[in-house]
Amino acid sequence: MSSKRIVLSSDHAALALRARIAEHVQSLGWEVEDIGPTTNESTHYPIHGAAAAARVASGDCQFGIILCGTGQGIMMAANKVKGIRCGVCSDPFSARMIRQHNDANMLSIGARVVGEDLALDIVNAFLSAEFEGGRHQTRVEMIE
Ligand code: RB5
Repeated sequence: MSSKRIVLSSDHAALALRARIAEHVQSLGWEVEDIGPTTNESTHYPIHGAAAAARVASGDCQFGIILCGTGQGIMMAANKVKGIRCGVCSDPFSARMIRQHNDANMLSIGARVVGEDLALDIVNAFLSAEFEGGRHQTRVEMIE
């Protein structure tokens, strides 16, 4: 597994926020693999959710951050990929907990739901939390 490497993707609803998150995550010392899309042209979130999830499932990226308008559709697509545990978060508490208790390896954010500063707080909470293991490990294995 590649540590300190994050894949980012979104649909057309989240290009600006994705760019801001990419810059922020890089400033935290992460290597960012931004797999697009690169234009605001209308596109299909399942394509981008699945593509980002594949980068995490392969072990090439430790984490993934994906975005669409609500964060919901792209999360659903990512979670279809074996080994992916992705949650939509609109608050930092949930972002911390999906790492600590669910060992989430992907974070989804709704660009039409949260503002930029809150989104960065959510990203910070996700990236700074550690999986607690123990009883949570048993439950994560049950998901798999
Ligand atoms: C696109 O309009 C929108 O449906 C998409 O970004 C997302 O919110 C779907 O879950």
